[in-house]
Amino acid sequence: MKMFPTMGGSSLVLICLMYFTGLVAAQDSNITIPLNKSITYENKELYGSYLTLNGESHVRVDFSNVNKSLYFLVFQAHSYMSSITLNMTNKYGTSVVMGTNLGLVIFTDEISTVNVLSDNKNVTVRVYISVHGYEKNDPIPGGCNMELPVNIAPFLTTLTFPDYVLVEVGAPSAPATDRTCITPLQADMTFYMMYLSEQNFYSEPYFNGLRTLMTLEGIKKYGKEIPFISIPYTRRRLSAYPGTGAIYAVVATSKNFTNKDNLTAYSVYVPNYSYGCNEFDEDSCEMIDDWLSQILCLGLMITGLFICFFGHRFFKTEMFFAGFFSGVIISYILIALVTVVDKPALLPAATVSGIFFGGIWWLFWWLYGIPVLAVLLPSLNLGFLLASIFYYRLPGNIPYLASDFNFWTLFILVMLLTALAVFSVSYAANIICCAVLGAFATVLALDYYMGSNLKFIIINVIRRATVPSFNQAFIAPPDTQWRDVAVAVMWLLLGTLGFLFQHWYNRGRPPFPPPPRSVRPSISEPSTFSYGAISSYFRRRPTNQQGTVVGSVTPIIARPYTERTGLLS
Ligand SMILES: *[C@@H]1O[C@H](CO)[C@@H](O)[C@H](O)[C@H]1NC(C)=O
Ligand SMILES: *[C@@H]1O[C@H](CO)[C@@H](O)[C@H](O)[C@H]1NC(C)=O
Ligand SMILES: *[C@@H]1O[C@H](CO)[C@@H](O)[C@H](O)[C@H]1NC(C)=O
Ligand SMILES: *[C@@H]1O[C@H](CO)[C@@H](O)[C@H](O)[C@H]1NC(C)=O
Ligand SMILES: *[C@@H]1O[C@H](CO)[C@@H](O)[C@H](O)[C@H]1NC(C)=O
Ligand SMILES: *[C@@H]1O[C@H](CO)[C@@H](O)[C@H](O)[C@H]1NC(C)=O
Ligand SMILES: *[C@@H]1O[C@H](CO)[C@@H](O)[C@H](O)[C@H]1NC(C)=O
Ligand SMILES: *[C@@H]1O[C@H](CO)[C@@H](O)[C@H](O)[C@H]1NC(C)=O
Repeated sequence: MKMFPTMGGSSLVLICLMYFTGLVAAQDSNITIPLNKSITYENKELYGSYLTLNGESHVRVDFSNVNKSLYFLVFQAHSYMSSITLNMTNKYGTSVVMGTNLGLVIFTDEISTVNVLSDNKNVTVRVYISVHGYEKNDPIPGGCNMELPVNIAPFLTTLTFPDYVLVEVGAPSAPATDRTCITPLQADMTFYMMYLSEQNFYSEPYFNGLRTLMTLEGIKKYGKEIPFISIPYTRRRLSAYPGTGAIYAVVATSKNFTNKDNLTAYSVYVPNYSYGCNEFDEDSCEMIDDWLSQILCLGLMITGLFICFFGHRFFKTEMFFAGFFSGVIISYILIALVTVVDKPALLPAATVSGIFFGGIWWLFWWLYGIPVLAVLLPSLNLGFLLASIFYYRLPGNIPYLASDFNFWTLFILVMLLTALAVFSVSYAANIICCAVLGAFATVLALDYYMGSNLKFIIINVIRRATVPSFNQAFIAPPDTQWRDVAVAVMWLLLGTLGFLFQHWYNRGRPPFPPPPRSVRPSISEPSTFSYGAISSYFRRRPTNQQGTVVGSVTPIIARPYTERTGLLS
């Protein structure tokens, strides 16, 4: 229900807005827009206002007082959720565009009437209309459009796929000199984006976001540049964050004025948006809606808390989950790469395989009982998480990393280095792994409930591994909003608490529990434990406990910490 705010809730706001912004409630009417406001370099907007279309409507828009120094106008109309149509006929031909974020270029040598049409019966559509004026040197947005159905397409097309969003425009043209587009792309284009607040599908932030990115002033202030990663120049690919709206804008600058400090000629395309999901399909924007996912999340949270605070003490359980999570991620990626299975079927398959992996790792510990090797897997998991954060935080314009080979080499390097770094201090490493990974699992579950974007730390890596062309995607996660900050702070706090607690809880115990088959004679051999940090730990412990230095392996024999029951130990 969140998707479609009803009139009841927001009608008061709407009425106020109608009153203050001079809205025209129209079914069939004619309006004339005066365009004698003077423009500045930063803000070339001549007019902007809301228009309300009641049911099936047809509004004719005329322009008056057009400043003679203008060469062309960009007329734009934005509606929320309902599609509208713009049409216009002049000596250059007929242009008809349909959709939600539309625009037309009107040359001032022949100003024609623009028709705004809505054929949504019984539906009131609010439309924001705006007119921008440009001069002779300014490039024409979409002037060299090759693909879209109109000659001049000054608008952005956004296509939302499950994993990424494509933003595409028609190439701009230089106005007076090159209307025939012999040399398209004569102008530079810069793409920008701005996130709306998470899980907010109301029309107010939507319109405010669009209005912000309509002028160069707003774009420079609030927009984040989307770097060019691969050809074509007219397209950008972005990682999708379902439920977080984004507004996209493009600024074209004339190549003849490439001096960055003295850009005199530019034009701004009509901005467009994406919620990272299909907003008409209520399910696709909400990650958690069915009871099964709720239960899974609850399970994840409980497991996470347990590992965070008791992971080291219940070593076998930890071993199982380390194997389980590695198994889920590896088999998810492998299955997705090898076969074409849809996502709902992938997860159960990966889970089954994860249980299998968990079992194998648990068995491994049970059979061999070498702590240093057992800790390797949690360390690698921690390395994976760190490398994923590294990818998540990576600025998008490193062409070197667009190559899969380079990327995965670096990724695995970061992962192994992390594992190696913690590996040398196995006991502390294992507690760190438990605390960090357990806290991550806990906040991951919270993250799903809250609709923040922490989960994309992992999801982006899986996308990179399984989605074709994802190497060209700009990651730019929305991570500065209160939900994300809250979740990250919670992760930090839980991790620290978990570490301190486990450190205290395991004080005076041998660093690792005896392997399950503690009858193994080799265990009491000092040689098994001659791994730097561990043996020194062994030597320290007895001193702390009894005040006298006992033999290096005595504690194990003297105080056998047998684990309690089956898996839960
Ligand atoms: C709008 O203008 C058209 C022609 O310019 C005219 O036929 C029509 O009656 C006008 N409609 C209204 C509501 O004034
Ligand atoms: C625009 O022109 C109209 C009439 O010509 C005038 O009333 C109005 O004040 C002008 N507005 C501006 C901003 O110059
Ligand atoms: C036309 O626009 C130019 C530049 O914005 C401005 O200097 C000039 O005064 C405007 N002319 C009129 C008649 O408004
Ligand atoms: C624009 O729409 C109006 C109303 O539907 C229609 O009368 C007119 O013929 C259309 N013009 C073009 C060029 O399609
Ligand atoms: C519009 O409303 C009328 C009366 O309320 C109803 O008869 C008609 O079926 C509705 N049309 C649509 C397309 O919903
Ligand atoms: C703007 O984006 C919406 C949703 O992503 C899409 O439906 C619409 O067609 C786009 N507008 C244009 C002009 O392509
Ligand atoms: C750029 O400037 C040169 C000479 O100054 C001119 O010949 C050319 O047409 C200009 N190109 C554009 C796109 O304005
Ligand atoms: C900026 O460029 C314009 C046109 O190319 C030129 O007339 C003007 O002197 C330049 N200004 C500066 C500060 O470089």
